[in-house]
Amino acid sequence: GRGICDIVCVQNQYNVAHRADDALIDDLAREGIAYVPFFPLGGFSPLQSSILNDVAARIGATPMQTALAWLLRRSPNILLIPGTSSQKHLKENLAAASLQLPDDVAKALDGIAASKTV
Ligand SMILES: NC(=O)c1ccc[n+]([C@@H]2O[C@H](COP(=O)([O-])OP(=O)(O)OC[C@H]3O[C@@H](n4cnc5c(N)ncnc54)[C@H](OP(=O)(O)O)[C@@H]3O)[C@@H](O)[C@H]2O)c1
Repeated sequence: GRGICDIVCVQNQYNVAHRADDALIDDLAREGIAYVPFFPLGGFSPLQSSILNDVAARIGATPMQTALAWLLRRSPNILLIPGTSSQKHLKENLAAASLQLPDDVAKALDGIAASKTV
């Protein structure tokens, strides 16, 4: 595609439990290309993970806020469009942008994809 036109943004399925695009995201970041994960919360049946629930409880956030904060921390080229039909969830999702996940928390969340508990 890049022989035809410049690419400014890539969209594909990616979230804390579905990480097939890990290497691609790093490549795109190096090239200054944005990445929009679709199903950032798992899609039609949102993420369910005991690790996610435990970590969220530890940092005083909801599991979905924690999943969004993990994505924002994952790489500077990640842009989020979490879908919701609820104003409460919209407010929670916006607040997730100010959650700072410490290294040990991010590391624990990396265990979700490794453990396949979702
Ligand atoms: N390029 C593609 O092929 C493609 C494919 C699929 C989707 N997309 C796009 O990706 C974006 C997101 O997709 P998506 O909405 O299907 O998936 P998603 O954002 O991963 O998940 C949405 C689900 O999470 C729930 N949710 C949202 N915020 C929540 C919160 N704070 N707490 C608890 N549950 C929460 C929603 O339920 P509630 O309504 O109850 O909040 C909904 O069931 C959309 O813009 C969509 O158009 C693109």
